Amino acid sequence: MYSYCCFLVFLFNICLCEDIINNKRFPSDFIFSVGTSAYQIEGGWNEDGKSPSIWDTTVHSNPAFIEDSSNGDIACDSYHKIEEDVAIIKELGVTHYRFSIAWTRILPNGIGEVNEAGVAHYKKLIKELKNNGISPFVTIFHWDIPQVLQDMGGILNSSFVSWYSDYARECFNRFGDDVGYWITFNEPQQICTGGYGSGVFAPAVKSEGLLEYLCAYQVVKAHAKAWHIYDSEFRSKQNGKISIALDTLAFVPASSSPSDKEAANRMLHFTLGLYANPIFLGDYPYVIKARIAARSAAEGRNRSRLPEFTQDEIDYIRGTHDFFGLNAYSAFVIEAIEDPPVQNPPSTWQDQGVNIYIPSHWEGTAQYHFVVVPWTIRPLLNWIKNTYNNPGIIITENGYPSKGDKDDRREYYIRGYLSYIRDAMIEDDVSVLGYSVWSLMDNFEWTLGYTLKYGLFNVDFSSANRTRTIRPSGEFYKKVIQTRCLVENCVE
Ligand SMILES: *[C@@H]1O[C@H](CO)[C@@H](O)[C@H](O)[C@H]1NC(C)=O
Ligand SMILES: *[C@@H]1O[C@H](CO)[C@@H](O)[C@H](O)[C@H]1NC(C)=O
Ligand SMILES: *[C@@H]1O[C@H](CO)[C@@H](O)[C@H](O)[C@H]1NC(C)=O
Repeated sequence: MYSYCCFLVFLFNICLCEDIINNKRFPSDFIFSVGTSAYQIEGGWNEDGKSPSIWDTTVHSNPAFIEDSSNGDIACDSYHKIEEDVAIIKELGVTHYRFSIAWTRILPNGIGEVNEAGVAHYKKLIKELKNNGISPFVTIFHWDIPQVLQDMGGILNSSFVSWYSDYARECFNRFGDDVGYWITFNEPQQICTGGYGSGVFAPAVKSEGLLEYLCAYQVVKAHAKAWHIYDSEFRSKQNGKISIALDTLAFVPASSSPSDKEAANRMLHFTLGLYANPIFLGDYPYVIKARIAARSAAEGRNRSRLPEFTQDEIDYIRGTHDFFGLNAYSAFVIEAIEDPPVQNPPSTWQDQGVNIYIPSHWEGTAQYHFVVVPWTIRPLLNWIKNTYNNPGIIITENGYPSKGDKDDRREYYIRGYLSYIRDAMIEDDVSVLGYSVWSLMDNFEWTLGYTLKYGLFNVDFSSANRTRTIRPSGEFYKKVIQTRCLVENCVE
């Protein structure tokens, strides 16, 4: 069905395959998960010894940074609602729950002394999950670096690698006996390009084409160190798996011309390859390395704006993965253009050197530039399979934003993604091991505050109880998990 129907889609951007849903059951060991992150749901921002993270300080000092001037001080109040949260997770019937640990609860000074109250919180959550038959899928870092470390340069300080890996070791040490899956970093592209390129996320540093690449270099090194610590000190006792969750849009070439295809491929390398190549293959993708080096030289710099790994670093980072974590939500069309002229200061866009657009007939959502194009996941999964030697892939995030309405489109979106994922598994032999919906419930959506809702559960933010109510899309996901099937009657 893909080869004909979606081939047409690919070429002419016509969606003919809307209603063809895969009818083969998912494997019995397929991971069905749902996700959240600490700052977005917990609240309790200064309780039990927790120190502020960069998100606490940003929202407090600059409320206008957030669309509705809100913050995560209370959020879903999950810090006080472990039983309630686990009950709704159980109601969905997921095999795994993906959540993150707040560094500021475990090590309020960023390094050094452990805050036992913070450890106790996550121990309690993990125990409650396990008592209910749900496996924890734990993100070590989901954007909330302690402010005390930010004051010393944060991710850009060369000490970050040891700050982070010491914190990760503490997580393995305290929780690892009960954790089967670890994620070192959630979405380094958002951390680095958002935090140090465009500046749209905390710490809101604008340094396109410069500090965003230094950040990427630092994050990859910190990831690798944490992986090695797990591998050498914990794996034999704890038997878990550890990797990183990388995000990218799918990039659809504007035409079948070699130049448009090459441009789309290059964009994937700028978003995904910048992180995935060092980890899965060794070193940055040649196309990025060469482009940034050449443009840097033309700008009169004596070295590339993309820091280089030493050979020892390349060897140390290569192979630091146990699966491929992919956050995938939306897509752009990519068109080749003439190379933009060299300029100072540099820009990410000029480095990438492509034209990006969204065709007007693609269905939009409540989020700017976010479109509903589930079919684009299949070529993306194939690209990962072919580029990175067929790794086991876990879709660590996928979900639909609305203003609280259009829940039927959320159901359509999730069904569509799962269907194309299943097609890729069966027809293209892509190894997809699991899928996690973002998000369990509506939460603090970073700069968009509470204006945007991703939840399978609605949260009533006007009630002190933050009452959670399942949406029809949640009922739908529950049924999919129960039957491991996307249609009324599956064949095996
Ligand atoms: C980087 O961290 C070290 C401690 O490891 C600190 O002494 C130094 O001042 C930090 N650098 C910056 C620029 O803050
Ligand atoms: C390279 O450029 C940097 C920054 O402009 C400068 O500090 C450094 O001395 C230069 N190095 C060489 C070898 O020219
Ligand atoms: C809030 O939750 C408590 C405990 O579950 C319950 O007793 C109370 O009635 C709830 N209040 C509202 C307004 O829902």
